[in-house]
Amino acid sequence: MNALIQKEFAHLEPGYFNAAYMGPTPQRAVDAGKKSLERTANPVRMAYEEWTLLPTQLRKSLARLLRTKPQNIAHFSSAADLFSLIAWTYPWKPKDHVIFMDDEYPSLTLPFYQVKERYGLEITALSREHFRNPALLLQAIPPSAKVVVMSHAAFNSGEVFPVEKIGQALKERNIFFAVDGTQNLGGRRAPDPLETVCDVYGASTYKWLLGAYGHAFAFLSEQAQNTLTPFHIHWMNTQGFQDRHALSTHDFSAHSGAHRFDRGQAANTLGSRVLLASLSLMEEIGLEKIEQHNRELLGSFLENLDTTRFCPLAPLETLHHFLAMEIKKGNSEDLQKTLLQKGFDVSVRRGNLRISFHLFNSKEKTRELLAALHS
Ligand SMILES: Cc1ncc(COP(=O)(O)O)c(C=O)c1O
Repeated sequence: MNALIQKEFAHLEPGYFNAAYMGPTPQRAVDAGKKSLERTANPVRMAYEEWTLLPTQLRKSLARLLRTKPQNIAHFSSAADLFSLIAWTYPWKPKDHVIFMDDEYPSLTLPFYQVKERYGLEITALSREHFRNPALLLQAIPPSAKVVVMSHAAFNSGEVFPVEKIGQALKERNIFFAVDGTQNLGGRRAPDPLETVCDVYGASTYKWLLGAYGHAFAFLSEQAQNTLTPFHIHWMNTQGFQDRHALSTHDFSAHSGAHRFDRGQAANTLGSRVLLASLSLMEEIGLEKIEQHNRELLGSFLENLDTTRFCPLAPLETLHHFLAMEIKKGNSEDLQKTLLQKGFDVSVRRGNLRISFHLFNSKEKTRELLAALHS
C-alpha cells in the first residue's frame, strides 16, 4: 500500500489531515481529468457511447463499493439534492413527523424545513444520546413519525452512529430511514447488506471518496424507489433515451431502477472520469484496509493526546477516522493558523479543531502533528 500511496499522492503536502473538508485528488484521477479535457477540447468523432455510458460505469463502480446492485444507485448533484428528493416527493399526509438529530448537517435538514408548511409536517430534532441508543430513540419517536434522517458520521464531532441497530429498530415501526454517509463512506465501509439497514444511503463524493466537487449518489432500496417520485426529468432518464435519434418524441415514461432518479447531465464527463479513477484506487487497496489504516492512525493519535488540553467531543469508542476537539486554552482558529504555518492542514468547525485520517496520512506525520499540537 505504501508505494502505491506515495505514487498516487506525491503532489500532496504530507501534513494534510483534512479529508472531512475536501478529499485530495489522486494522481490517476488528475490524469483522467486531464485526458477528459483534452478529449472535449477536440470532440471530433466523439460517439454517443464514448460519454453517455459514464453514469452506468459509475453506477457499477459505486454498487461494488456498497455491495449492492447497480440498479439501486442514482446520481445526484449534492447531498442536499438527494434529501430534497425525499422532502419534496415522499407521500406525506398532514401532521406526519420527520425526526432529525440535533445539530445535523444542514443539507439533510433544510429541504424538510423548506416543505414543512407546504405539506403540514412536524419536525423534531432529538439529542445525540437517542441515536446512540436505539431503544431510547424508539421511545422518543411519536407514532406519527414517518421519516428519520441522519448522518452516519457527524461532521462536527466524528462520531459514528450505530445505523445498523437503528435501522433494525425503525423497520419494526415501518419508518422510512435515510442515512447520509458523506462523512463515512470511503474513510470506512458502508453497512452491509444495506437493504437490511435503510431505505436510502447517500453520499457526496468529494470528501472521503476523493471525487471532484459537484457529485453525490445514493443507494435507493426498491421500496424507496417505489415510494419516492423521480424529480429530475431529462432525456437521459426516460425511455425516449433508448432511441437517441428520436429526441423529440416526448416519451416521459421513466427508466426502470434507480436510474430514473438521476440528476440532469449525470454523464458529467470530467467529474465522472475523475471519480471513476479515484474509486479504482480505493477498490485496488480495498475499503476494509483503508478503514483499518484510518482507525489505527486515529487510535495512536488518541493514545498520545494530552486530554487535559484537548477534549474530544464524542465518546472515544465511537470515533474511527476523524474527530473534533474542544481546546481548553486559547482559540482554535489561532491554533489552526499556527498548525498551517508548520505544514499541517486541519479544519475548525463550530469553534472546535477537526482532524481527519485517511489513506494518504502516515504514522510518522501523525506523530509530528501531535508534537505540533502539544508544543
Ligand atoms: C455530513 C455531511 N453531509 C453532506 C455534506 C455535503 O453536502 P452537500 O453535498 O449538500 O454540499 C457535508 C459537507 O461537509 C457533510 O459534512
